[in-house]
Amino acid sequence: MTVLTRPDLDAPLSTVMREGSQAEHAAAEGSSFMAELLAGRVNEAGYAAYLLRLRQVYVAIEETVHAHAHDPAVAAVLDTDLERLAAIDADLEHWAPGGARTVDSAAATAYADRVRAGAAWAPLLVAHHYTRYLGDLSGGQAIGRILSRAFDLEAGAGTAFYAFPAIPKPKPYKDAYRARLDALDLTVEEKQRVVDEVRVAFDLNQALFRELGADLASYRR
Ligand code: HEM
Repeated sequence: MTVLTRPDLDAPLSTVMREGSQAEHAAAEGSSFMAELLAGRVNEAGYAAYLLRLRQVYVAIEETVHAHAHDPAVAAVLDTDLERLAAIDADLEHWAPGGARTVDSAAATAYADRVRAGAAWAPLLVAHHYTRYLGDLSGGQAIGRILSRAFDLEAGAGTAFYAFPAIPKPKPYKDAYRARLDALDLTVEEKQRVVDEVRVAFDLNQALFRELGADLASYRR
């Protein structure tokens, strides 16, 4: 059963986005692939399979937001300090040296296609931007530390994805990001469209985990 959270649409946009996607956030957190990853039970091939899917998603996000950099909604969040593609490539070199940089993944393709479709109305791109980057700056930070411990990695090795060298303090950065979201001039109906897209983005992340979870037997350490 889907739990429908009904945010108060008169609240600031960032509040609507967070509160309106709590059920989907909890569901994504509860994915078995994520649980196994955080327990240190996913092997190198499994983590590389995850990164390859993320790569496809971040290529779509980073290309599309750059193509719409001048739209006021995109301009409010666009920041090259957030970009993850180079970090993903560096991490792939650690987990799968010399390996492929593309993957045949229905879940990643569906996610990337949905991101690109957001170009039809820029606030939809903002929904995707928020879901990935604010997540990376939040729970993602703990994931990096856990991975490092589980694999006994040297400082930073293979976990560039979780490091934001130009953003030493995530909390004030996230507060400023939310303030810029809140300054966007959106109607109640438009806020509803944005939060609906955030929910879709969470579901697409969960679908990624589901796809990886189906292969957990071969990704077990
Ligand atoms: C086990 C997995 C996860 C854990 C443990 C986790 C944990 C957290 C925590 C603790 C926060 C709050 C941080 C704060 O108050 O500043 C947070 C926020 C967030 N997470 Fe996650 N998360 C997980 C998975 C995900 C996934 C898969 C996504 C989507 C790609 C995501 C997206 C977000 C977003 C967008 C926020 C910011 C909410 C806001 O303040 O507006 N998280 N997460």
